[in-house]
Amino acid sequence: MGWRDSSWDEIRGMFALAPDAVHLNTGTVGAMPHDVLDTADRVTREWTGGLMDVYPPGMYPGYRGTIAQAFGVDQDEIVICHNATEGMARVIHGLDLRAGDEVLTTTHECYSVLSNFNLLRNRHGVVLTTVTLPTGYDVRAEEIVALFEAAITPRTKVLAFAGITLFTGTLLPIRALCELAQRNGLTTVIDGALVAGMLDCDFRALGADFITCSGSKYQCGPLGTGLLYVRNKVHPEHNPLPLPEFWPIISTWYPMKGAPPPRTTTAVASCNMGDYLQSAGSASIARGAALARACELWDEIGRDRIEQRIFDLARHARDRIAERFGVAAMYSPGADPRLRSPLIAFHPFRDPRDAWNVKKVGAFVARLEAEHRIWARWTEFDVAGSPHQHYAARLCTHIFNTHAEIDHAVDVMGQLADDMS
Ligand SMILES: Cc1ncc(COP(=O)(O)O)c(C=O)c1O
Repeated sequence: MGWRDSSWDEIRGMFALAPDAVHLNTGTVGAMPHDVLDTADRVTREWTGGLMDVYPPGMYPGYRGTIAQAFGVDQDEIVICHNATEGMARVIHGLDLRAGDEVLTTTHECYSVLSNFNLLRNRHGVVLTTVTLPTGYDVRAEEIVALFEAAITPRTKVLAFAGITLFTGTLLPIRALCELAQRNGLTTVIDGALVAGMLDCDFRALGADFITCSGSKYQCGPLGTGLLYVRNKVHPEHNPLPLPEFWPIISTWYPMKGAPPPRTTTAVASCNMGDYLQSAGSASIARGAALARACELWDEIGRDRIEQRIFDLARHARDRIAERFGVAAMYSPGADPRLRSPLIAFHPFRDPRDAWNVKKVGAFVARLEAEHRIWARWTEFDVAGSPHQHYAARLCTHIFNTHAEIDHAVDVMGQLADDMS
């Protein structure tokens, strides 16, 4: 079936969703299409029972090319890995960072990013500088770029940030930040865990050096899948900087003698860095195939159409939440369209001091799930000037959601918050 012309109702039927539940937590894990589940099952069976060399298919020669194309890059720049965390660890520990080098990032990064940089700080004396991103409905992209710019020093080597932050759902001005990095000669590391499957984007045009993605969130592949983009050639119109020195850790392909070929300074690759990283022992062949199937389905539906649908549902959810809880309750940006994402974090209660009450915010989300089968989550994050972290309720929209579901969820959230206030 060609999905390009299918209605959103028909497309919703593709997904293995729990019956009578409202899934508003794709930021944690998406829902797999039945076809993706079937692929995982079929390929698991095909590769069980012996008499087969399981190593070559783990290089995913066909899948990587197709997936790369969907993101505007080439096979040598894409790795199918095991999740965004693993991808990020392989990038961070593959960078050539030494004592005194500075990494600039934010306090709103996932622990999968911060824990790796903290390890480098303790192990090698790398200096980690964190800025706290502004929160709230009225935040503007220029504020964010200026915040990073002010924190760059002559020792800064790396700029690392989430394409979309998980705590407040801020879509960072990715291209503007990559240009800032380029003007300062910095390597850019983007945590794109939430990007793949949501944004119809061209990785090369974003101008970053590394983008790590989760396969199981917006891309709706199996748990334990991820994508890693490694810039492997120089396209000056996107990023004129030389390729950063990079050590492909976890590789069974690294040469026994000598080093891999020198990396290119032009638009033609001289070393397949994707292969060095992809060759990493026995792989989960079935999960890789299932992720590739999810990507193929996305291409069939149309990634442009998917992005539009997700953002249309998000606009509806944001408007309904702002109407019900007030614009002042929003932690996610809303006024600047460049920063809006389908992850919406807000304070549900009347008393603003409850934003520091983890038990109450946690109970709110737990009751949504237990009493109403609405699946959201709570998040915690620094707020500039606040003596304590804030806690928020967060919902996410995806293509399998409907406007009616969102209306229902916001009504229930409003009533529950009134009960608990
Ligand atoms: C922004 C962000 N980065 C990284 C991760 C970790 O992703 P994974 O579970 O694929 O390792 C998450 C998970 O929620 C996330 O939201």
